[in-house]
Amino acid sequence: MKLFVDTGSIKDIEAIAALGILDGVTTNPSLLAKEPGDFRENLKKICGIVKGPVSGEVTATDFTGMMREGHDIAKIDDCMVVKVPLTRDGIKACKALSGERIRVNVTLCFSAAQALLAAKAGATFVSPFVGRLDDVGTNGMDLIREIVQIYDNYDFTTEVLVASCRHPMHVVEAARIGADIATCPPAVIGALFNHPLTSIGLEKFLKDWEQAQAVKA
Ligand code: G3P
Repeated sequence: MKLFVDTGSIKDIEAIAALGILDGVTTNPSLLAKEPGDFRENLKKICGIVKGPVSGEVTATDFTGMMREGHDIAKIDDCMVVKVPLTRDGIKACKALSGERIRVNVTLCFSAAQALLAAKAGATFVSPFVGRLDDVGTNGMDLIREIVQIYDNYDFTTEVLVASCRHPMHVVEAARIGADIATCPPAVIGALFNHPLTSIGLEKFLKDWEQAQAVKA
C-alpha cells in the first residue's frame, strides 16, 4: 500500500520524505491556506521534494472554473494531480480533464455510489474520508470495503486513496482491506512508528551493552 502525507507544510514533507517511505502528497484548500507564500510556488517546491503524485485542489465550484483552475494546477509540474469535489460539476470536470490525460483525484467522497461515479468519470484517485464518517457516527472503513469490492468487480483502475486518516488503525485497516493508498497527517505517520515495546527493548539492549563494555574496560 502506498503512503501519502496530507499536508501543505514543506518542512514536514521534507522530514517525512527523508525517511524514504513517502509515495506522494495530498493537499486541500484548508491545508494550503495555513502555509505562508504563494500556493503555486509551494506546490512546485513539494513536487521537487517528493517523487510521486501531489494533489492540488480547485476552489471553483462550476465546471468552467474547475477546468480553468485544473489546467492551472496541472501546469505547475508533471507530478501534479488535480483534485475536484464530488459534485455534478466536479464529475464532469473529472471526465474532461482525464480525457486530456490530466490525473484527477475526486475528493469529498462519502458513499459507494459517489465512488462509482468517480471511477466512471475516469478518476485516477478517489478520496473517501474515513475520519469524517467516523465523526458522524458511521464506520468509515465499511465504505472502503464497499468501494474496493465494487472496483474489483469491474476492474476499475481508479485507486482508492483513503483520506481523513486520524490514527494508525485507519492505516492498518485500509491495508487489510486492500486499499491502494492511505494519506495521513504528519502526526499520524509519526504514530505509525511507535510501539512501547520497541522503546523499552531498545533501552534494555543499550543498557546491557553499556554495562558489558564497563565490565570489560
Ligand atoms: O485532505 C483531505 C482529508 O484527508 C482531510 O482530512 O482530517 O480534515 O478530515 P480531515
